[in-house]
Amino acid sequence: MATESSRMTIEEEVRERMASSAALHERAVPVLPSGVTHDSRYAEPFPIYVTRAAGSRKWDVDGNEYVDYFGGHGALLLGHCHPTVTEAVVEQARRGSHYGAGHEQEIRWAELVTEIVPSAQRVKFTSSGTEATLMALRLARAFTGRDRIVKMQGHFHGWHDYATIAMQPPWDEPASRGIPRAVQSTVTGIPADDIERLRHELEQGDVAGVILVCNGSTREYLQALVDLAHAHETLVIFDEVVTGFRYAPGGAQEHFGVIPDLTTLAKILAGGYPGGAVAGRSDVLALLELRDDRQWMRFGRVQHPGTYNANPVSAAAGVACLEIVRNPAVQRTAADAADRIRAGFRDVLDRRGVGGAVEGWASMVAVQLPSDLPQRNLAARFRAVMQLGGVDPSGMNLIVSAVHDDDDLAQTVAAFDAAVSRLQDESMLKAGGCRD
Ligand SMILES: Cc1ncc(COP(=O)(O)O)c(C=O)c1O
Repeated sequence: MATESSRMTIEEEVRERMASSAALHERAVPVLPSGVTHDSRYAEPFPIYVTRAAGSRKWDVDGNEYVDYFGGHGALLLGHCHPTVTEAVVEQARRGSHYGAGHEQEIRWAELVTEIVPSAQRVKFTSSGTEATLMALRLARAFTGRDRIVKMQGHFHGWHDYATIAMQPPWDEPASRGIPRAVQSTVTGIPADDIERLRHELEQGDVAGVILVCNGSTREYLQALVDLAHAHETLVIFDEVVTGFRYAPGGAQEHFGVIPDLTTLAKILAGGYPGGAVAGRSDVLALLELRDDRQWMRFGRVQHPGTYNANPVSAAAGVACLEIVRNPAVQRTAADAADRIRAGFRDVLDRRGVGGAVEGWASMVAVQLPSDLPQRNLAARFRAVMQLGGVDPSGMNLIVSAVHDDDDLAQTVAAFDAAVSRLQDESMLKAGGCRD
């Protein structure tokens, strides 16, 4: 672990201790754009390259050990290589990874979703969360016969065209190039929590669906949103790709007691393997049915191919994982660990006289530090200096699992203490106050 009196700068120490990762990154850049395979894995001066992981920990190519809070982008509520999930996957891999046919695991997987997620009457599996939200929007449009979707500014729903709208200021510019102008006219981003603006949009009578993520919300707001949407015959989609099985076994909708028409799921759903799903009202999911009716087949239904939909390996992992996470003790254990991290981090900030905030929800911890650095650079520095203390956060967030133990938490708070001190030494933090 790094000491507070380390004489090297953060960057010098990263380059020394992670030299093999630096070499791999140099090899990666010519063949992988920026050397990474997911935007959020980009890191400065370079990302670490990992060789193995188990439980709450992972190890990089230089032999450095980390308490992992990247958590498989939120998929690993049970940590890395949970024995039951791993056993199910190995067993399934031996029996085949793709049958081009139905299998019992996909039925059990769907049954579990309907047993655990309150809104889920029926389920359709996809290969990712992005595909799940894409399908949910298509179902809403097909069901209502309307084109327009209302989403909340800044809410992330994956990387398909519709999800790039209203992601970051300026809100009317998509988050990516390559998005046809026509797409923009079919998605309207509004401020989250602005029920009057929502009412105004719904009153136009052309809104097929409202999609949102629910973390940090309130029961009153969510219920008002659902009631208002239903008054205008608009469907409500809760994107529970992150919150599903994490807030509570039944996700944010169970936690807040508010039921949407459709729910999108991924991440924990498939136990750390690729997979997603749209779940929800039986009459809406009926649009996906294949019937002996030419008119229906050509003009009535929503089609859904997808080579890896409910592939047996992901299904086996998903079934094993959901059988465990349906017990609310799992979410409680992870949330308790996150509470202890929040308390420990706040103590550090108080003791060191640094402003900022340590918030989040359930087992997600969100850190804000007062700095003049742009958020992206601060997050990169924070992640690098935490890594030097043997902890790998997800940018400024920590995604906590149910297997982080006392030793992990003690090491995490100590790493944060050292990190804040080193960021102060390198004049990256403002005294007092919070980032604005
Ligand atoms: C709320 C939300 N929706 C959708 C997605 C997209 O999921 P995937 O990365 O599986 O495509 C994500 C991914 O992080 C997400 O956080």
